[in-house]
Amino acid sequence: MTHAPALQDQFGRSIEYLRISVTDRCNFRCQYCMPLEGMQWLPKKDILSYEEIVAVVAQLAPLGLRRLRITGGEPTIRPDLPSLIRQLRAVEGIEDIALSTNGVKLPELAPALAEAGLDRVNMSADSLRPERIIAIARRNLGFNPVTAAMAAVRAGLSPIKFNVVVMRGINDDEVEDFARLTIDHPFHVRFIELMPVGDLRELTWEHVVPSEEVLARVATVGPIEAVEGPRGNGPAKYYRVAGGVGTIGVITPMSHTYCGSCNRVRLTADGRLRTCLYGDHEVNLRDPLRAGEPLEPLFRQALADKPKEHNLLQMKVGGLRALSQVGG
Ligand code: 5AD
Ligand code: SF4
Repeated sequence: MTHAPALQDQFGRSIEYLRISVTDRCNFRCQYCMPLEGMQWLPKKDILSYEEIVAVVAQLAPLGLRRLRITGGEPTIRPDLPSLIRQLRAVEGIEDIALSTNGVKLPELAPALAEAGLDRVNMSADSLRPERIIAIARRNLGFNPVTAAMAAVRAGLSPIKFNVVVMRGINDDEVEDFARLTIDHPFHVRFIELMPVGDLRELTWEHVVPSEEVLARVATVGPIEAVEGPRGNGPAKYYRVAGGVGTIGVITPMSHTYCGSCNRVRLTADGRLRTCLYGDHEVNLRDPLRAGEPLEPLFRQALADKPKEHNLLQMKVGGLRALSQVGG
């Protein structure tokens, strides 16, 4: 099968990857993402139906879109997610479909998701300790990240990536435990620097742990070497603890930006195309889609306007929309 070369943005970056938020809601209230009370949810009529999401992807695939990631909020709380995966799988040109989830529903849903054509999963896992998981997620759902990830492995959804948002004084003492986990589990643990997005009432710059410090802690577990990342690798840099079956990665939105190699855009649950995680670069695709207008010119214009880089470092903590609102 031959594919159209991916469209390029104004800086020559090829855009072949779309992150699709299917809901802004979540069954967790992670400290770094959502306030406990007072979130304003999108009304149902504003949210794209699965058929509309598929229609957007079908229009963008001929422009070189190859890879999709389903995000939220928490995507698995939207009813019948496997039916969306199945429909997206049928769009010509789409080569890879991944899911970002908090993992709570994976034990129940992993087989149906795999059967529908999902390729792989990224899971949030900020702690391995039950009481701390509850404290960070601020919900007690009896969640066990290792059990959830193993359910995904058994269903054939690999590689499994764990996303750990490292917060000083909250979970940074577990870096070594996560590193040890990769020695005998096929997990790719990625430590993410806390970003000042959303409503971080309880978090400040002091909670940000730079990746150099994280790697220094990982190196106390055993000798580490730089390695190739697993399939579908984006901005993370990867390492392996000697003898490990999994890998360790660091994602450094704060200390080293990687905007220069950005290959992605985002579709919010209410059908807006965002060309950067931050800032107010949004194009409404939903209304033109509902009016039967073609999306291609809007997509081309959005790429022509895609900003060069985020300016997170200049931003005040708490000044931006949460990742749950802009599509993880
Ligand atoms: N800082 C860093 N990462 C975040 N995520 C959400 N909010 C933040 C934040 N403030 C990312 C993490 C998490 C996923 C759901 O979204 O990767 O695991
Ligand atoms: Fe939910 Fe993910 Fe936000 Fe946590 S980070 S509240 S799991 S959307």
